[in-house]
Amino acid sequence: MSNLYDSLGSRYDLMVEWSGRIARESPFFESVFAELRQSAARKGSSDRPGAISGPDEAPDDDTASQSPTGLRVLDVGCGTGWHAAHFARLGHTVVGADPSVELLRVARHEHAGVAGLTFVEAGLGQLGLALANTVAAGPFDAIMCIGNTLPHVASPAALVAALAELRGLLRPGGRLVLQVLNYDKIVAGHIRFLGTSTRDTPIAEHLFFRFYDYPPEPSDVVLGNAIGTLAGARAPARLVFNVVSFERAPGGQWRFQAESALLLPIGAELLAESLREAGFSDIRQLGSYAGEPFSPGQSSDLVAVATAGGASER
Ligand SMILES: C[S@@+](CC[C@H](N)C(=O)[O-])C[C@H]1O[C@@H](n2cnc3c(N)ncnc32)[C@H](O)[C@@H]1O
Repeated sequence: MSNLYDSLGSRYDLMVEWSGRIARESPFFESVFAELRQSAARKGSSDRPGAISGPDEAPDDDTASQSPTGLRVLDVGCGTGWHAAHFARLGHTVVGADPSVELLRVARHEHAGVAGLTFVEAGLGQLGLALANTVAAGPFDAIMCIGNTLPHVASPAALVAALAELRGLLRPGGRLVLQVLNYDKIVAGHIRFLGTSTRDTPIAEHLFFRFYDYPPEPSDVVLGNAIGTLAGARAPARLVFNVVSFERAPGGQWRFQAESALLLPIGAELLAESLREAGFSDIRQLGSYAGEPFSPGQSSDLVAVATAGGASER
């Protein structure tokens, strides 16, 4: 299976209307940042967010500096970097990490010169090593893993390992924000088709179709003992996520290509168990960035906010 994201490269941004998306989602992220600032203010300056230092390496742009009032934020699976750049423009010191060389190439080009923003090539499970001894090293006040990035883990055991790594990169009391599609609803309804989108550019017309393939025996895989509380439970089989992109130059023929990635359909229960297993507490599950409670049968998304360590700082 070729790498979906490297193959899409700059075409990834043709699937997303970024300014509208950031405007819709930003109030939620800003509420998490405000919560962190408030809890730090309550606790005094000893663990003040943004007070963490230790840069060893020059950041990607020479205007970057640690904001005295901002937070340190890691965006895992940052893709083309639009959220990361937005967080940096809000005054935070931001690291965007992604394993896709091609998406990072777009990110570095699009957001060159944004102060306080660094991009690092690394995926879930590789972050600690990749970030160590760089300006991007944690601990972070907040980690975002959004845009359905988390399901790219290979198994429930890899999910716990990835979350435990994120836990280790957060300062105690730091927040993890996760957003995945509602796989409880998708799997129960055997939903195959996600949205379609189109985009016209001066050089071509683009159409994107996104759909899932379900493996023939979805419940065949049994979890090992790697996850104590989940041992014996049935692991959800991975779905194949397909993107077919069509392209037609003015006056030309349609050309198309299909690319795929495997996704672990992470439902609310698996996510909550895995977060607890990885050392998170105060786990809140919501149905979207609008903040309503998560409903397995109704919600479009599963958005989770969890706190690193045992301390609840709400
Ligand atoms: C659907 S995109 C979301 C990108 C971005 N967060 C957004 O909201 O548009 C999924 C992202 O996950 C990244 N990805 C794939 N495998 C990953 C892994 N193992 N660890 C971290 N990120 C991964 C891809 O390169 C891609 O950027």
